[in-house]
Amino acid sequence: MSHEDFPTENPAVVTCGLPYANGDLHIGHLRTYVGGDIYSRSLRTLGQQTAFVSGSDMHGTPVAVNAEKEGVTPEEFALRHHEKYEATFPRFNIEFDNYGHTHDETNTELTQEIVRTLEAEGYVYEKEIPVAYDPEADQWLPDRFVEGACPYCGAHARGDECDEGCGRHLEPGEIEEPTSTLTGNPAEYREREHKFFAVSDLQEYLQEFIDRLEGTSNAQNQPREWIEGELQDWCITRDMDWGIDYPGDEGDDLVLYVWVDAPIEYISSTKQYTERVGADTFDWEAAWKDAGVSESDAGSEARRTESGGDIVHIIGRDIIQHHTVFWPAMLRGAGYVEPRAVMASGFITLNGKGFSTSRNRAVWADEYLDEGFHPDLLRYYLATNGGFQQDVDFSWSKFKDRVNSELVGTVGNFLYRSMLFAYRNFEGTPDADVSEEVEARIEEAIDEFEAGINDYSVRQAGNAAVRLAQFGNEYIQRNEPWKLTDEDPEAAAQVIRDCVQIAKAIAVLFFPVAPGKMQALWEQLGEDGSVTDTAVDDAFEAPPASFGEPEALFEKIEDERVEELNEKLEARVAETESESDESDEDAENDMDADSDADIDFEPIADDRISFEEFQDLDIRVGEIVAAEGIDGADKLARLTVDIGVEERQIVAGIKQLHDLDALSGTKVIIVANLEKAELFGVESNGMLLAAGDEADILTTHGDAVPGTKVQ
Ligand code: MF3
Ligand code: ZN
Repeated sequence: MSHEDFPTENPAVVTCGLPYANGDLHIGHLRTYVGGDIYSRSLRTLGQQTAFVSGSDMHGTPVAVNAEKEGVTPEEFALRHHEKYEATFPRFNIEFDNYGHTHDETNTELTQEIVRTLEAEGYVYEKEIPVAYDPEADQWLPDRFVEGACPYCGAHARGDECDEGCGRHLEPGEIEEPTSTLTGNPAEYREREHKFFAVSDLQEYLQEFIDRLEGTSNAQNQPREWIEGELQDWCITRDMDWGIDYPGDEGDDLVLYVWVDAPIEYISSTKQYTERVGADTFDWEAAWKDAGVSESDAGSEARRTESGGDIVHIIGRDIIQHHTVFWPAMLRGAGYVEPRAVMASGFITLNGKGFSTSRNRAVWADEYLDEGFHPDLLRYYLATNGGFQQDVDFSWSKFKDRVNSELVGTVGNFLYRSMLFAYRNFEGTPDADVSEEVEARIEEAIDEFEAGINDYSVRQAGNAAVRLAQFGNEYIQRNEPWKLTDEDPEAAAQVIRDCVQIAKAIAVLFFPVAPGKMQALWEQLGEDGSVTDTAVDDAFEAPPASFGEPEALFEKIEDERVEELNEKLEARVAETESESDESDEDAENDMDADSDADIDFEPIADDRISFEEFQDLDIRVGEIVAAEGIDGADKLARLTVDIGVEERQIVAGIKQLHDLDALSGTKVIIVANLEKAELFGVESNGMLLAAGDEADILTTHGDAVPGTKVQ
């Protein structure tokens, strides 16, 4: 893969998958939007010219079906949800440069233009196919109006997707044993003429494209099977009124398939952004148009875009096929730039089970804010709790743990103690130069941040600042400036000068994850303006010589709060379940169908690791020598563990789950080469392995002695 590292000279466009304008947002939906917002802010911090765009997906049967249930027009229904989303995203500091919708004029025109181009290039043809029909309702049954069995895996499938089985996109006519969702009766197949996009003509191109594609590995691996096998052409029209008319066919009730006009909104939204700010600020054509391709070489031979922008699509992993097959084929066929990267996120579960909007088993976006939690806390949790393509579980209790130990204990603690010290003793930034050690450590944090972005890992980029704060805490602890103020004021000034610089670097590097909180820190540091306008190098500039008394940025979440929130959630689910026996039926109309499944366990990770990668882990048998609770921490215990060669201090979240006094002598399994961490100010040098939320401690079956390697 030959892409230049970020930042590049090109304009970048970061997009988020369009939410169907179809229901209420819960915090599970926010994962890709938070990821996109962090990614685009981070690119800007690196100095990359970036547009961050998305919009609401207004068309398609998911919207039409629900509008019909409510007895309103699809347009009215979709617009209402669109407006709601548009207002909700900024409340989570998700700030799109443009947030449009697929039914607006810009997108309608551009979609029709692109389809005309595909026609002119010879990529569109007509074919007679069987389409599901409900004789009783006397109506065609596009997409979600029909259900049945997936022809590939046999799972129950809804219209155009096998969302409970193999995940494939299904073409009209493919579903077996079709049933009408309008009447519940068996549907019949009738012949009907539809338009097709000749994706198969672009197969060779797609095979090369997928090798160049960057992003998360699932986005590159999952589509190979399709791209390398027999590639089917794609039906791009539907028998419906709601949608964008097939160009030239306005009279007929044939509209474009929703998956044609939806991704085109990525371009339309960028175009609207340019129309608002001017092409000097951001030129959508420079980003999207492929000046390097002339009509004659738009065929299938290999070519890498020499011009155009860096397009990064951030999506859920259920829509990888659309973004790595149909969409790049459309772009290629119509002469637009291909995506540089696709980042496909894993799903989110709630207390280990799927979110279910119909069962009210969800933490709603509004609800989260109404409970008084700052959006940045959730952003941090969603962005760093697992790798982007891993599934992430949310629970109030895990949320509390991460907020308390990392945001309060590490980041907040460092910032508050060092700035308070600076304020009390120097009324601001002490007059000294930053030490070489600290300058080098800040540089390391910047490198880590930059590498995270180039690896498409929002987690790594986000953690760079947290690790820097961890270093800051160690640095203060090691240098004990409180002892130096009288004995050696100059040395004290040096240490605090260093800490203030670390604080500023944290403001710059943590801003993409926690924009609200880091803006507040920026102001505490006496800085003007917005952190948005800073770049990584500002991390080395001295903050103003004077600033006021700092305030703690993060607040601890109490156990009682968690109990209260869990009870609320449980009560609500119980109430909804007793109210409605129809919840199963309603579940079909959820915004995110995949979240409905009642999974008791987190799904097995998609990606395999190699044996070598496994061997990188140094896992050993140990024996607990001593165990005691850590004051002030509800869950954490400090363990002394004998691992043969040495004794280790390990912090583990088992305080309330085990009788600590009884643990001495217990054989345990630990990861010996995990990086050190500081939890509640206590260093943890290794990790104790335990199963599940109850922390069932792993031990040995026989008599392996401490130090034995686990393999
Ligand atoms: N609305 C679609 C969904 O929720 C996503 C559309 S993304 C785009 O599955 F690429 F079409 F824009
Ligand atoms: Zn299937």
